[in-house]
Parts: sequence; C-alpha cells; structure tokens
Amino acid sequence: MEKDIRALKAEKNALIMAHNYQPMEIQVLADVVGDSLELAVKAKETGADLIVVCGVRFMAETAKILNPDKKVIIPVEDAGCPLADFLTPDLIREAKERYPDAAVVVYVNSTAESKALADITCTSANAVQVVRSLPNDTILFGPDANLAAYVQRELPEKTIVPVPPGGHCYVHTGFTLADVEAARRKGGMVVCHPECLPVVQEQADLIVSTGGMVRDAASGDEPWWVFTEREMASRLRVLYPERVFYEKPGAVCADMKKISLGDLRRALDREEHEVVLSPEVMNRARRAIERMIAVGA
Ligand code: 13P
Ligand code: SF4
Repeated sequence: MEKDIRALKAEKNALIMAHNYQPMEIQVLADVVGDSLELAVKAKETGADLIVVCGVRFMAETAKILNPDKKVIIPVEDAGCPLADFLTPDLIREAKERYPDAAVVVYVNSTAESKALADITCTSANAVQVVRSLPNDTILFGPDANLAAYVQRELPEKTIVPVPPGGHCYVHTGFTLADVEAARRKGGMVVCHPECLPVVQEQADLIVSTGGMVRDAASGDEPWWVFTEREMASRLRVLYPERVFYEKPGAVCADMKKISLGDLRRALDREEHEVVLSPEVMNRARRAIERMIAVGA
C-alpha cells in the first residue's frame, strides 16, 4: 500500500499534507505534517500539481482557496469538523448588525462561506497576534468560544465577543479539572490546546497550538500531559523519543480518523474528492486568509 502511494504521488507530482492528528501511518507518507497554520502556509508555497489534504474539510478548503488553479482533494469527503459547523454566515451577519464597529475574526476551523465574511482569519497559533494587529476595540470571534476566552485573557484591552456564545470542540472540552488533578498527582507539565475549557487553561503550565507543542517540546525534560487529540502525543514521541508524553485515550477526533491508507491510495489514483468552491467565496475568503498569513510574516 505504501509503495503504491509513493509511486502515485511521484507520478502525479502530488503534495500530501497531513494534520498532526492524522493516524501515524498517514503522517509518515506525508510531505508536510503540521498544525492548521503550517498547512495553510505550505499550501500557498507549493509547486505541486495535485494537493492531497489528509485532515478535515476546512483544511482542504483552505488549501483550495490559496490555490484556486490547482486540484485539491480530500480522500474522505465527509471528514468534517463539528466545531466549524457552529458558525453560520447568518450568525456572522446578525453579530455585525449588533456590533457595526467590530472586526470579524474567523478561526480557520470554519466553512469557506464563513471565512468569506471575515475581516481576517486566525489559527490557534496566531489568534492573539491577529487580534492585536487590529485597530478595533471590539472583536467578533468565532466559532470557538474557548479560544475566544484565551484571546480575551491575553488581550484584556479588547472586548472579544464569541459568535456563537457556546461554540466548542467536543474533543477538547472533554478535558476536565479531574484530568488536571490526576496529572498533578503523577507529576509533569500540563500542556493544553487553547480549545480546552477556560477552567482547564487556567490550571495548565502551557497553552499552545499543536505546532507550538512540536516547537516547545524540543526543550525541557519533564513529562508532558498532552491535553489535545491523542495522536499528538504519538507525533511528539516520534519527534522526541527520549521524552515522556501522556495522552488521554478517549480524546479522539472521529473525523480525523476517517482517512485510511486505502482511502489515500484511491484518492491519489482517482484524484478524488475534489474540493469545489464558488470563485466569489474563494476570492473573499482568500483576502482574509492572506491577511492572516501577512500578520505571521
Ligand atoms: P491546530 O491549528 O493547533 O493544529 O488545531 C487545529 C484543530 O483542529 C484543533 O483541534
Ligand atoms: Fe474539529 Fe475538534 Fe476535530 Fe480539531 S479536534 S478537527 S476542532 S472536531
């Protein structure tokens, strides 16, 4: 299977991108493995003819928006992100009517249609920098209310309005204070993703994106309790075999686990499922994503 995939990849001049939560057998075949921001930046820079996104739909849409003339495919069509579904274009329009002077910041975990209504997008790696870069005092921020709370804590001078108020990721809100207490009893650092609940964030030693975890685990020798999707701990173990990383077995993103090696081979062979978006939505969403990438640069 792996040989077939590598041969098809070369034949089609394809770039395989995988998110940090993808099963390890997919990650080892990918040209790029990273967090949402890293995947977006790499998608913008590629010279490949075909881009295969092993992740969830919003990641494939982001790659397509940044490469409107390339074929972008996702091996399993219904690999979605329940967090993204919390934010609808109508909710953004209503919030804009209530707060006409506010800027609209849309987390990349969102549909292309919602990004098209954003002034700027953000990821968990750059949310604070993005909001800080805006002149507006009030920021409409969606769909993740826990990331919104994190940004609010970091930037008390701004008013962050979560849209909708309860948008969340079920994987990350599954981490509780009992998990923190269990970690404290055994010892080590609690490292959480900013999609975790504020009560958990407040107790954590470090709050970072998945890319931030890869970066920060390069130094230090304490065990880490990795409060995010469990595959992240596997990735960290591969990168840093001398260190100890604990995961929570139940912290599984079902959509991230939908793509198998067989799906990847079929996707490369048949060049499906292609991401198709309207040019108007892509053009508007691209402005918001490129503005975000410029903040990072
Ligand atoms: P990162 O941008 O940190 O990879 O997060 C994406 C995501 O889906 C978190 O659940
Ligand atoms: Fe979406 Fe949560 Fe899965 Fe990330 S872990 S893709 S936010 S459902």
